Amino acid sequence: MNHKAIIITGGAGFIGSHVVRLFVNKYPEYKIINVDKLTYAGNLANLKDIEQKPNYRFVKADICDFEAMLSLMQEEKVDGIIHLAAESHVDRSIKDPFTFARTNVMGTLSLLQAAKVYWESLPEKYEGKRFYHISTDEVYGALKMDGSLFTEETKYQPHSPYSAAKASSDHFVRAFHDTYGMPTIVTNCSNNYGPYQFPEKLIPLFINNIRHRKPLPVYGKGENVRDWLFVEDHARAIDIIFHKGKTAETYNIGGFNEWKNIDIVKLLISTVDRLLGRPEGADDDLITYVTDRAGHDLRYAIDSRKLQRELGWEPSLQFEEGIEKTVRWYLDNQEWMDNVTSGDYQRYYEDMYKGR
Ligand code: NAD
Ligand code: DAU
Repeated sequence: MNHKAIIITGGAGFIGSHVVRLFVNKYPEYKIINVDKLTYAGNLANLKDIEQKPNYRFVKADICDFEAMLSLMQEEKVDGIIHLAAESHVDRSIKDPFTFARTNVMGTLSLLQAAKVYWESLPEKYEGKRFYHISTDEVYGALKMDGSLFTEETKYQPHSPYSAAKASSDHFVRAFHDTYGMPTIVTNCSNNYGPYQFPEKLIPLFINNIRHRKPLPVYGKGENVRDWLFVEDHARAIDIIFHKGKTAETYNIGGFNEWKNIDIVKLLISTVDRLLGRPEGADDDLITYVTDRAGHDLRYAIDSRKLQRELGWEPSLQFEEGIEKTVRWYLDNQEWMDNVTSGDYQRYYEDMYKGR
């Protein structure tokens, strides 16, 4: 498949910026159109190094705006869509579920419908087209501490408004394949970490707090387990799946890398302290156990053997190596952190932890 014009939605966000960077650098013959509304989570500073490339275009737009999506697809003769734009933070979804339904469900539907109208207007229709939807392992619900894994056949059982909205968007994508024959693909990935992640998520929030010697709010007992993947490994998987994945298939993406939250917190403290030349154990007392997240899923763990077996992808980094790289990046990019944590962020942070 030789795609010429690809829309990447949410390209100014955390994972999206890594995907845009990879595609712009690796495929100079493609035109990469980054569509992003620039919510609090979108930041064009994440793409400074590629913004002048001739094969890159940024369009500030809301994916819920059907007319804008359709005319952009027509104007750019878009033949591929990689859809990452979403509201992505579980804690925010607990406070404001409507925004999650709007963007994640209605936004995805608006993009699908625009692609349908545009592609069906062409003589070749869906031939050579691809709609690739990026989803999450959270749609599968929670695992027990029994070694079981989420496979592509695991039934959907979302618990948070975030995961319910993502599950609904996944269903719409598959419905557009089954009903209209749109060539779709869905992938469900585990927790990502790495540079450019907004500091509301565990790893960048805690790195920044350790640096500034602020409390580390560990939810519940810190025993919840997540399966962590370095963000560039996810971007590489997206590249492989976009080009070689089979239409209508689902692929799970994960690192076979399960960690209890409290163990990650200890690893972050020791890594930050070592890199800042602080004595061992200097910041252990920052750990503060707070009221648990409502509906907090106990454990996520992905079986990504299908992707490894069929498309030859595997994670490239050991977690300790990835964490070292990540901590160094945040410490070296304090200006980026200061910019994203100025203004509204302080208010959000105080509000989120009020009463915990
Ligand atoms: P993020 O919150 O960092 O970025 C989301 C981006 O989407 C931002 O740039 C934001 O401005 C943009 N956006 C939000 N609403 C929009 C709208 N209505 N129109 C256009 N743009 C809009 O998210 P992320 O962590 O990079 O996640 C990206 C995708 O990957 C999401 O779909 C998420 O569900 C999925 N995912 C994330 C993880 C993870 O660990 N972060 C894991 C698996 C899957
Ligand atoms: O599994 C994939 C998902 O991973 C993605 O779909 C989501 O977009 C992404 O946000 C992430 O969801 P989590 O809820 O797992 O990530 P978060 O970084 O918010 O939290 C990770 C774990 O750490 C979780 O068990 C909650 C806990 N936590 C989080 C924060 C922010 C704390 O204990 N304290 C905190 O302050």
